[in-house]
Amino acid sequence: MKPIIIKGYKQLLKSSLFREGCVFFRQFPDKETYIRIDDDVHNRDVILLYDLSNTDEKILKILFLSETLRDLGAKSVGIILPYLPYMRQDKRFNSGEGITSVYFSKLISNYFDWLITIDPHLHRHRSLEEIYSIPSIVLNSASIISRWIKLNIKQPVVLIGPDIESSDQVKRISSQIGAPYIILEKTRMGDYDVKISDIPIDEVVNRIPILVDDIISTGKTMVNIVENLKRLNFKDLYCIATHALFIDKAYEDLKKSGVKEIVTCNTINHVTNRIDVSSLIESAIKSILKL
Ligand code: R5P
Repeated sequence: MKPIIIKGYKQLLKSSLFREGCVFFRQFPDKETYIRIDDDVHNRDVILLYDLSNTDEKILKILFLSETLRDLGAKSVGIILPYLPYMRQDKRFNSGEGITSVYFSKLISNYFDWLITIDPHLHRHRSLEEIYSIPSIVLNSASIISRWIKLNIKQPVVLIGPDIESSDQVKRISSQIGAPYIILEKTRMGDYDVKISDIPIDEVVNRIPILVDDIISTGKTMVNIVENLKRLNFKDLYCIATHALFIDKAYEDLKKSGVKEIVTCNTINHVTNRIDVSSLIESAIKSILKL
């Protein structure tokens, strides 16, 4: 029997390997959640595919969905979170802080049998196994981003990573497209305040700069580098990221900064989505469910 997939967004994974399941949510007048599964899930593998950006608003529904599926006899309930939230608070930076990446991992591990995600923000935690107790597959977007660059941007290019945390991804893309890279240094003073080191002009001159990062959130990181490059008279600039969080006016601000194109993967639905991650996810499901 085909696994049942319940999708929180429609743009991903149109595959005949799965049967689309049906869940109905509504809110009671007091805003509590009503949930009903309109499918026979008994003894079936069920896959949830959800965008959990804006996590705090969405998480309870997803946990109730898992609980309902288990209650109705599902054989397994796995979750695909193309964007894995709550990964950035990965240590106690200041005394008294909660390490929410760990607490979130415990929550997900309690409610699901496995997890698939793409480009999670793994830094002080080196792997998901360190904090998630369920089997997980971590996908990487470097190959599909590299393909997009080769097809859409004229050579010669240079890749720019904003900080050491971006360096693994930048190096992977660099080796796949055969282009040089530089990694800058970022100092974060606050949520909306970052300082990026100067661009080493000799390494960038006569090339098209492509900024690469995992997440665009407030956009301040990208805007800061774009402004520096503009001051150095670069015209054609590209920003590429996996996850298009774009908080508040971040997208408008980045567009206004003079970037030629902003490109993201469709892990979070956004107008900048150009790179489809469906094929990566499909292979991972086949591997985890042995299809
Ligand atoms: C940082 O740790 C991440 O890799 C990104 O650089 C960061 O999330 C970007 O944030 P923002 O868009 O708010 O500057």
